[in-house]
Amino acid sequence: MENKKNGFASGIGFILSAAGSAVGLGNLWGFPYKTAANGGAAFVLIYIICVLFIGFVTMLCEFHIGRRSAANPVTAYKRINKNIGWFGLVGVLIPTFIICYYSVLGGYTVKYTLNSFSGNAGLLGSFSTNVGEVILFTAIFIVLALVIIMGGVKDGIEKMSKVLMPVLFLILLSVAVYSLCLGEGVREGLNFYLNPDFSNIGFSAVLAAMGQAFFSLSLGMGTMISYGSYTGREINIVKSTAMICIFDTFVALLSGLAIFPAVAHFDPSLLENAQGLTLMFSILPEVFNSMGAFGQIISFLFFAMVVIAALTSVVSLVEVATQFIIQRFKSDRKRSALGVVLVCFAVSIPVGMSLGRVAIAGERGISIFGMDLLTFFDEVTNTVLMPVCAFFACLVIGWIIKPKNAMAEIEESGTPLGFLRKIFPIMVRFVTPLLIIVVEIGGVVTKIRAGQWFVVVAAYALLAIAAVAYFIFCKNAETGTNADEELKTAK
Ligand code: PFF
Repeated sequence: MENKKNGFASGIGFILSAAGSAVGLGNLWGFPYKTAANGGAAFVLIYIICVLFIGFVTMLCEFHIGRRSAANPVTAYKRINKNIGWFGLVGVLIPTFIICYYSVLGGYTVKYTLNSFSGNAGLLGSFSTNVGEVILFTAIFIVLALVIIMGGVKDGIEKMSKVLMPVLFLILLSVAVYSLCLGEGVREGLNFYLNPDFSNIGFSAVLAAMGQAFFSLSLGMGTMISYGSYTGREINIVKSTAMICIFDTFVALLSGLAIFPAVAHFDPSLLENAQGLTLMFSILPEVFNSMGAFGQIISFLFFAMVVIAALTSVVSLVEVATQFIIQRFKSDRKRSALGVVLVCFAVSIPVGMSLGRVAIAGERGISIFGMDLLTFFDEVTNTVLMPVCAFFACLVIGWIIKPKNAMAEIEESGTPLGFLRKIFPIMVRFVTPLLIIVVEIGGVVTKIRAGQWFVVVAAYALLAIAAVAYFIFCKNAETGTNADEELKTAK
């Protein structure tokens, strides 16, 4: 029989693709400044505990839910029980929302890469309020993702990841080594980044670490279910999960080692403001600027690396909705991907305008209760919806399929569990879901206390809409499997 499979062709291709999804702006930009702001090495320790106790287990569950059905997240949950298919629809909707703001930031990184030789310092304000340019660069970024997705899983996503992920890693490693060898300031930079400060570790730092772990590992949505659905017996999902978690954490740590020593060496006064958007789009360009001509090359390499990271992530986000549309509507890959990208691009326009005007220029512009749209989308998905979705994944494996059956399925599909056989049941039934509930309640309470109740209302409204939409449009309809696309391609 010829190989008509549209899944990942090799274990390494799968690992690099899933790592490509995981390694993104969350690692290169979010992790370093959150670490610096939340207790340095103490935060790193808590983050690693979160990856071990929440990230690893949830990722394994999501891969397995995808793999056992070889289908999109809606069908995957539906096959377990017809009434819970809506969990899958939530898993398709979350990444679709994320694309709408992630692409705007992706557009920024493309602009900064191209602008490296004419100077990026001071660009943040002028670029982000120039609506036309923001839309143009968002479009460029999203079209790059579209081209890759149109190539399919094996020939698009996997091939791209096999080339781009090693490039990303090499650039990051080189910049980190360069930065750590600068001499003066390195110690101060490292101190700023990693100095353990346990007095800074309160509940909010723990919440930040947990939230960061979900986002950074691309969990709590349909992404890893979708990628898992494209794996065959030859891929060991336990080893892959471990490697993805380790790689993702390593890249995040390395990113801070590349950034802070350089900031401290070239202009220590910038350290204190190295927060949020400014760290990547204002502070770093200033640092590159003060390096002289060499700084332009470093700037180009650095931002090219960020583009790669953001691109491999957004591709995984687009794939989820594309896979669902291909299978639910029996449409072809190219048309489905185009549809997803067009809708997300349309929504990203007001998001981009709002970011520039409201969050950056501090002007009046499109906002929701005074919050810029990017922050709003980010909060709705990250703070409230992702934990809910991750909870569903553990709930399904721990209480519906049951760990014993799930482990038997995993082993039958060619992945030995080893020592995990002992701890997995307790983790997936109790430890991980309980920790996730803490994140969810903590997130909701924090939002309400901060007067941002509308974030919580919007998130739960979205859950309700997904449930209603599922029962009307999907429950009794054929929602398809990966075989639908294979049949189409084979024709
Ligand atoms: N993990 C990506 C990052 O750290 O930037 C973001 C992301 C990509 C989240 C894909 C979710 C996802 F499905």
